[in-house]
Amino acid sequence: MPALNIKNLHVYYGHIHALKGIDLQVEEGEIVTLIGSNGAGKTTTLRAISGLLKTPEETSIRYNDAELTQLRAHETVERGLVHVPEGRRVFARMSVQENLTMGAYTRKNQRMVKDDLEYVLKLFPRLQERRMQLAGTLSGGEQQMLAIGRALMSSPKVLLLDEPSMGLAPVLVETIFDSIEQLNRTRGITILLVEQNAQMALQVANRAYVLETGRITMSGNAQDMLNDPKVIAAYLGL
Ligand SMILES: Nc1ncnc2c1ncn2[C@@H]1O[C@H](COP(=O)(O)OP(=O)(O)OP(=O)(O)O)[C@@H](O)[C@H]1O
Ligand SMILES: [Mg+2]
Repeated sequence: MPALNIKNLHVYYGHIHALKGIDLQVEEGEIVTLIGSNGAGKTTTLRAISGLLKTPEETSIRYNDAELTQLRAHETVERGLVHVPEGRRVFARMSVQENLTMGAYTRKNQRMVKDDLEYVLKLFPRLQERRMQLAGTLSGGEQQMLAIGRALMSSPKVLLLDEPSMGLAPVLVETIFDSIEQLNRTRGITILLVEQNAQMALQVANRAYVLETGRITMSGNAQDMLNDPKVIAAYLGL
């Protein structure tokens, strides 16, 4: 049984049928990417998983033994699914360290929180150097690191990452993707990665799904997709 099992996911925004019956599975320990163009429904998929959107009766989103469609957003977080939203929403008027500490506010074991803080600052040395800086004054890439770091502070089992590479220079994109791979490998965190940067996403992922206007049109091994002529023509711009 996959850890995360999405069956027949529909989302309506008023009369707009944004997701038209999506099936998607993520096994524990996997990196799975969902790629697709602007407006395909990638963010909507993550918001539905996180309990931020209503879904109809026929939709099922199971995470291990829990039916997530029955849970509130904060209950989903308590079960270990943590969403890093599009556009890196950090608390601009708080320092880097305060932002990170906020990520751990529901946790009781302060020693483990401290260990995780050290882990995050090691994973992102740029944040270590800027611990006391106000988050709003960080560069875009640094804010993305902070958004991921803050999510890590809640000790997630599954990270739902929405376009972590958006708007970043190529060298920073590399840094972010390296850290995604690293926290999957060293911490065993399962990752569902939503990306328009198909090239990078397919390089780090084990498996991939292609989303086109609310439907999954292709899925498979990420390496195979990198070599698939249809994927190359539509998403790799070669
Ligand atoms: N709150 C909303 N109200 C109405 N329509 C919406 C709303 N949010 C999203 N949509 C529509 O749903 C569709 C899917 O949007 P979504 O944000 O999921 O796309 P996306 O794949 O994340 O795109 P992008 O790559 O641009 O972030 C789009 O047509 C969008 O206009
Ligand atoms: Mg989006």
